[in-house]
Amino acid sequence: MNRIEYLNNLAQSNVQFNLGAGTPPLELYPTFDINNYLEIFKSNNSSDVLNYHKTSGIIPELASETLKLNEGINCPSAEIILTNGTQEAIALACNVFRNKTIACLDPYYPGIVDTVRMVGGKLKIIPEDRMFEELEKLESGSLFYICADFSNPTGKTLTIDQRKEIITIAERRNLYVFDDATYRELNLLEKVNTLYSINQERVIHSMSFSKILSPGLRTAFVFLPKLLTSKFLAAKANLSINSSGITQAIVGGWLLENNFQINNHLPLLKSRLKKNQSVLNDYDCIYSGGFFTTLNLNIKTSFDWCQEILQDKNIAVCPMRMFSESKSYEKSIRIAIANLNEIDLRKSIELIFKEHQ
Ligand SMILES: Cc1ncc(COP(=O)(O)O)c(C=O)c1O
Repeated sequence: MNRIEYLNNLAQSNVQFNLGAGTPPLELYPTFDINNYLEIFKSNNSSDVLNYHKTSGIIPELASETLKLNEGINCPSAEIILTNGTQEAIALACNVFRNKTIACLDPYYPGIVDTVRMVGGKLKIIPEDRMFEELEKLESGSLFYICADFSNPTGKTLTIDQRKEIITIAERRNLYVFDDATYRELNLLEKVNTLYSINQERVIHSMSFSKILSPGLRTAFVFLPKLLTSKFLAAKANLSINSSGITQAIVGGWLLENNFQINNHLPLLKSRLKKNQSVLNDYDCIYSGGFFTTLNLNIKTSFDWCQEILQDKNIAVCPMRMFSESKSYEKSIRIAIANLNEIDLRKSIELIFKEHQ
């Protein structure tokens, strides 16, 4: 079984303790009335949602307003593209930068590494603790992919000083940065300013609705440096022509109904994340938001080991080696924590430690 099959199986699995899949527990989100949002959109907008439309999308103006009201950043609607989730934005970026180096941190999100390989691009996987020195070595015009807030797989978040340093290097070395902001709104502490707010001409900021509303919408807002917009549009025109007008309209109606506030509706989910944070603290596990964190064990955690605890204990986890080239992660696992309540989270961590420490 390969990595994608394993992750897909986990996403659909009925395993008792699913610490493997990063799928949103939609029962903790408010009821989502698709027809109502469609109607709200249609009464405010004359776009024919059933037809083909502009490759950039039918709601860039609403995307611009969303960024302004949630991040205090102005981005002209002409520099915004609607995509089929952040994954399509990653694919566009990999296509646009396929003749340059595309770098990412180790451990990595497989969606970047596999896509660079798919387009035959030049991939550079940088060990986390060597980020700045390796960025300094990238050729001019390279792209650096990062998940600055609550990354998948490690759960880590960049400090403001690290963000500033990345931008300073990007300016000096003529690099572009792709900030995958998929988990940004799942914060338990105050948000750190985005990389995009520091320099809008160097950063591609991709904001997905998959974890804040529903992955089924397949919708992300991609805020682009002016110089890259037409290249991204050309790639998108070939890849998917345009994103579905129907799901854009649903997102648009939802935004209008909620005054563009993209995380006020998540108190139930955040209350679970908060309770789970205090469980994780008991195990010296650092967690401040998002769906993932790293658990360090005293034994090697291979695929076989994960299969074993799946069969014996009904616990699904992913070995960190699944997301890394480096042996230094042999004893770590990625745990997805949003699916379980605090009682089951504690129970499953106890079981993992009892059996295998
Ligand atoms: C880091 C990261 N980026 C992107 C995605 C895919 O997001 P989307 O559903 O918006 O394509 C995921 C999905 O789990 C993810 O973990």
